[in-house]
Amino acid sequence: MNRFTILGDQLPPHLVELLGDDVDVLPWTDSPDEDTARDVVGIVTYGHPRVDGPLLDRFPNVRIVSNHGVGVDHIDVAAAGQRGIPVGNTPGCLDRSTADMTMALLLAAARNVVTGDEYARSPEFTQYDPSILIGHEVSGATLGIIGMGRIGQHVARRAKAFDMKVIYYNRNPNAAAEEALGVEYAALFEILETSDFVSLNCPLTPETEGLIGDEEFELMKSSAILINMARGPVVDTDALYRALTTGQIAAAAVDVTDPEPLPRDHPLLGLKNLVITPHLGSASNRTRRRMLELTAENLRAGLLGHPLPHRVEG
Ligand code: DGY
Repeated sequence: MNRFTILGDQLPPHLVELLGDDVDVLPWTDSPDEDTARDVVGIVTYGHPRVDGPLLDRFPNVRIVSNHGVGVDHIDVAAAGQRGIPVGNTPGCLDRSTADMTMALLLAAARNVVTGDEYARSPEFTQYDPSILIGHEVSGATLGIIGMGRIGQHVARRAKAFDMKVIYYNRNPNAAAEEALGVEYAALFEILETSDFVSLNCPLTPETEGLIGDEEFELMKSSAILINMARGPVVDTDALYRALTTGQIAAAAVDVTDPEPLPRDHPLLGLKNLVITPHLGSASNRTRRRMLELTAENLRAGLLGHPLPHRVEG
């Protein structure tokens, strides 16, 4: 039986099982010794570390880079393509769970779920007080979705069920989504000026890096809530801190940050008007299981020189 040696960064044990008995996983290194450099024929990642041309050049026999996740901003897909190495990812299976989490964060920030939880456990909670922790109405509010791809469309569907008005900004208007979901395209500045909630559901690309900074926060309503389910660098972290501490916006809920994680003493972590979760967008049992399967299927196909079930075009 042929054996395959691959490089993986702290892979989940279940993924290692799925890869099969003929796959040996080496711990991550970007400075391999001669044997490792020669033996490695595949790379499995899940968001970090970075896979770029110089790294791939250190492993001249790599045939496949398989990413456990849909976002491939940490992989230089073009550099891999130039070296004849296909990159696989896991699209589709995580759209609904990521949209669910977007709504979870939206609702948590709007209705003080986290501060309410803390208060309900504290000695201060001695009797029901109708004047505390008054949140923002979700029903009837305007949600501006930035990124009307698969995940954005599932967010729109959920928001409609909450009686929200949904407007969106995308690189190109999405006529099919408008028709199917009753959402309206708007310019970015209009989304920022008119939305009660702004949800980031776009990939991280050179166009979206730093998309939301001081100028954008200045356009937003002081009652607005920002949700970031995209990638940390879509938002300027310092500008977010300024916006939350000066009342430029009311609150934010973020599943991703820049850097990720934030340093443990980062001032954002002390803010009550920030809800933060540790990159849980796709973290539901069925979704994560399917992601593991797709990662293993892409890897196996690449190792055998077959077309990948899910290849990233680049
Ligand atoms: C993705 O699929 O890109 C998610 O961020 C999980 O890594």
